[in-house]
Amino acid sequence: MINRTMDRHEFADRSKLAAAFADWTSDILRKAITTRGAALLVVSGGETPLRFFRELSTRELDWSRVTITLADERRVPDDSPRSNARLVRASLLQNEAARAKFAPLADSRLTPEQELASARARLASLPLPADLVVLGMGTDGHTASWFPGATGLAEAMDPAARALVAPISPPRAPEPRLTLTGRVILRARRLALLIEGPEKLATLARALEYGPVEEMPIRAPLRQAAERLTLFETLTK
Ligand code: 6PG
Repeated sequence: MINRTMDRHEFADRSKLAAAFADWTSDILRKAITTRGAALLVVSGGETPLRFFRELSTRELDWSRVTITLADERRVPDDSPRSNARLVRASLLQNEAARAKFAPLADSRLTPEQELASARARLASLPLPADLVVLGMGTDGHTASWFPGATGLAEAMDPAARALVAPISPPRAPEPRLTLTGRVILRARRLALLIEGPEKLATLARALEYGPVEEMPIRAPLRQAAERLTLFETLTK
């Protein structure tokens, strides 16, 4: 095993995790605003972050100084149940956090080339490095849209990538995606990984063993950003 000293926080259930994670995140955002006048938060989509988003949306801070973007997006219309932007709008950009600015990546009305150019321009206008990148993980060891076996994976994970956003087509996922590259994710000031349930905890244990990063891309942040990464985990699913 590697990374024994990583900062790991375990919770009895998903609700306790979501509340503590929201407190922790809002502290980071407040400190960034105090220090730099603004904060940049990168969140992941999927199903796991819903409770965390709802909790975070109620925390008091100067949300007008916070910009939120996504670690990755599926190329689907904004009103699709599979849209990560839709999830963020419906569950995070609410309550106190309704005043935050949102910079989505995807725009399925555009051609793939236009969509990519527009996402890259939008990201380039944000105050990088991000104050916090919140990652999830799949049971195949993917994170963001860094899927094992995806064409362009090595370039997408590269912390020295020229691009901030890369197109990626996961081998088994239903639609093509846009993902932030290693240049944004691995160079963030802080990273957090949200893990719920025994299956994902087992995946995490495998990822912490020796083995190629390409087989389990979550290994990239676990190895390359270990000292900036905090794990929030619960066995309960
Ligand atoms: C996405 C993600 C992705 C996600 C994991 C976990 O849009 O698919 O950003 O990396 O974090 O797939 O997804 P679940 O939370 O749905 O298990």
